Amino acid sequence: MYAGKARAYTNIALIKYWGKKDEQLILPMNNSLSLTLDAFYTETCVEFDETLTEDQFFLDGTIQESKQTKKITAFLDLVRQRHQIELFAKVDSQNFVPTAAGLASSASGLAALAGACNQALHLNLTDTELSRLARRGSGSACRSIFGGFAEWQKGTSDQTSFAKAIDADGWEDELAMLFVLVDDGVKDISSRDGMRRTVETSSFYSGWLDSIETDLTAAKQAIAEKDFVKLGEVTEANSLRMHGTTLGAVPPFTYWSPESLKVMQLVREIRKNRLPCYFTMDAGPNVKILVEKKHLATLKHSLAEHFSSEQLISASAGPGIKLLPVEGSEKS
Ligand code: DP6
Repeated sequence: MYAGKARAYTNIALIKYWGKKDEQLILPMNNSLSLTLDAFYTETCVEFDETLTEDQFFLDGTIQESKQTKKITAFLDLVRQRHQIELFAKVDSQNFVPTAAGLASSASGLAALAGACNQALHLNLTDTELSRLARRGSGSACRSIFGGFAEWQKGTSDQTSFAKAIDADGWEDELAMLFVLVDDGVKDISSRDGMRRTVETSSFYSGWLDSIETDLTAAKQAIAEKDFVKLGEVTEANSLRMHGTTLGAVPPFTYWSPESLKVMQLVREIRKNRLPCYFTMDAGPNVKILVEKKHLATLKHSLAEHFSSEQLISASAGPGIKLLPVEGSEKS
């Protein structure tokens, strides 16, 4: 048996990854830039075991159906094929999220699995190699190898597409992200399906691609200059533009719920009262608000009239991936 374990933290993109150039290799259409957060993480243990007759995936202690296991098995197949291993594996993942409100992320999950495989099979991968491997599980996972800010450079091949840490001189520690968990009345469209439909059918998609370079440059400049307003403005605009592309898809769709719109409006109002804060959203109705730590308590207070404390979850910048000791590791 070969066993390994790792913990990876989730990341939220400020400049979004939205669309693939190569579905098989998970090469993105555009660079993206994210902040890794401390409040949500996944710990995954993998055991390649000669006694297994198929892969098994346990999430928070419960064995998962084949639908949920698909991404995991596809990833394990890649690892097995690359490293000439024929053993099936048991994957045991724990999601550490403050509530059970659908915040589990494929970024932390697949990054942790890549780290666990690295340890189990003694691959000794560098962070860049690990980022490339995690990318094959889920695109956004390649950014969760690193703490703080990271940029996923789209590259042109499996070799050249990976994330890199962005040195912000510790500025990330002055920032916070407040998650506003809203009700989800709409049927889920996964980010994978949503971005595919958008790339294939949305007449707005080319506009999205045209804007990326400018947004990315602005975001990187804002980080270099520690300019919060500039970073916030480009974060919010980029997210709105990404979500705009879904309205031009055939058939059109949106991840926004009425509650998401309410949060966006509240953020705009709070901003008018001179508290700089900016929203961003991913493939679901929850809204994340970027704010400086010094204003977090005031922001929470302003939102507390409208949302319960369970709906408001704050996070700070988080660390990169960590390898963990495997319980009973003498077996490995
Ligand atoms: C909207 O990384 O979940 O959160 O590569 O198909 O697994 P796959 O997609 P995934 O997409 C994340 C999309 C996003 C934006 C982002 O995180 O950059």
